[in-house]
Amino acid sequence: MPEMTSDIIIKDLVSMLGIKAVLHHDDDTAPFLSDWHSRYHGKAYAVALPETTDQVSALLAYADKHNIIVVPQGGNTGFMGGATPDASGHTILLSLRRMNKIRQIDKQNMSMTVEAGCILQTLQDSADDAGLYFPLNLAAKGSCTIGGNLGTNAGGLNVVRYGTTRQLTLGLEVVLMGGEVIELLSGLRKDNTGYDLKNLFIGSEGTLGVITAATMRLFPKPVARSTAFAEVRDVSAAVELLHRVQAASGGMVEAFELIPADILHVLFEYFPKIPQPLATIGAMNVLMEIGSTNPASNQVDGNGNTPIRQIMEDVLETAFEDGLVIDATIASSDAQRDALWDVRETAPESHKLAGKVARSDVALPQSAIADFYAEMVAGIKAIDPKIRICGYGHLGDGNLHFNLVQAAGGDPDFDAKTPKLYDLLYGNIAKYNGSISAEHGIGQLKRDQLAKVKSPAILNTMRSIKSALDPKNLMNPGKII
Ligand code: FAD
Ligand code: LAC
Ligand code: ZN
Repeated sequence: MPEMTSDIIIKDLVSMLGIKAVLHHDDDTAPFLSDWHSRYHGKAYAVALPETTDQVSALLAYADKHNIIVVPQGGNTGFMGGATPDASGHTILLSLRRMNKIRQIDKQNMSMTVEAGCILQTLQDSADDAGLYFPLNLAAKGSCTIGGNLGTNAGGLNVVRYGTTRQLTLGLEVVLMGGEVIELLSGLRKDNTGYDLKNLFIGSEGTLGVITAATMRLFPKPVARSTAFAEVRDVSAAVELLHRVQAASGGMVEAFELIPADILHVLFEYFPKIPQPLATIGAMNVLMEIGSTNPASNQVDGNGNTPIRQIMEDVLETAFEDGLVIDATIASSDAQRDALWDVRETAPESHKLAGKVARSDVALPQSAIADFYAEMVAGIKAIDPKIRICGYGHLGDGNLHFNLVQAAGGDPDFDAKTPKLYDLLYGNIAKYNGSISAEHGIGQLKRDQLAKVKSPAILNTMRSIKSALDPKNLMNPGKII
């Protein structure tokens, strides 16, 4: 329990960071103290918005000296309550939003060094302006920050081709509780010098230190794309289609997303202006995209086709003949492509509006996904046949968001069913050797579940790492472990 009063802490923060960098009135701090789903609500002495690594260092030295909890936050779009403090109020909410400079773009090294508070969209746009490509992409790109992406090891829509945030990271700058700055800002692609501290901080959800900057990999820009929406026979047909498109395109699959009928029903209920991709809503669908960096892939032939579109057409035609695909459409313009992506990217927002939802973020071996899905559907229907089964997402990575939305029109008994739904889910994840978190992290929401599924040896190792770096448990306590 800190001996300092709230007034003293605010005064000290103001002298450290300047008056504009410290928010303490309820109206100003409120948006920082609840999560995106409004599931968690916390309190803090103040929200601090430093502008430099030195200021973050000074703040963490001060917090350590006075035993004050620090909760780092980026865009506050995380799903696990990881950026929300507890209700005690003995916390400084450290928002990185003002640390938003692109420090350097090194075109020869195909890398960019950015501050942690840069919005993901800004990274994408800056790479694009430099004639390069930054492939991390999620529907929250306009508000999430690279620091938060690193904190959660975010995945998103293009992992199947480029990997998660971890695979896109070359270097980090991190400030530890106490103020020490660890300079790991390497642009190197190979560096076997001792323990891999960079990867320890990625995905640590602000519990080990504050990431203040990062060096990220850049890629050649895809200049040709083909995007298709296809109704498929079932989940196993979708997996088979994924492998066929990968093989036919030479590994050019940029995205491969599973979209069941209930996703579309819920979406069109709340967003009726989004156009329906196919004339009818099929039971199971995929949205897939292939991309090429070779301009020749985009050259229009005498039939008005491009080589990249031809690959997509050929795969779909054969899959149709083999009974894997029932109906399909290929985008013929950027506007049509955007409309298809709108369907997918608006799904999380529609679930937020749909009321009660049991959410999840599971990873499974590709080979197990169809059986897992079938068992989930059978089990859910036994609990309540009216639940809308929105098991959707990044099939290309073996990652589904198996969201279960209450029956249309509402269900007063949904809360009572939720534990049964999670028991079913966790039972099937264990049975098929899956993971309870593929890309959203653990935060506070899945902390107790993590303790149930990891062995004592793993949990003890995690606790040892935590206490080595944060012996007083002041860095985002109550998250992960
Ligand atoms: P925050 O929510 O602010 O923080 C998340 C965690 O990281 C917290 O534990 C926080 O303490 C920590 N943290 C934040 N900044 C730092 C820092 N500088 N140093 C250390 N720790 C830090 N996620 C996916 O993976 N894939 C998706 O496809 C996806 N789609 C989404 C779609 C929508 C519409 C929304 C709202 C969210 C989606 N998310 C997705 C979840 C979310 O956007 C990601 O988790 C994102 O990485 C969070 O970034 P943020 O800046 O908002 O982080
Ligand atoms: C998505 C978020 C929820 O993929 O991760 O829609
Ligand atoms: Zn996702």
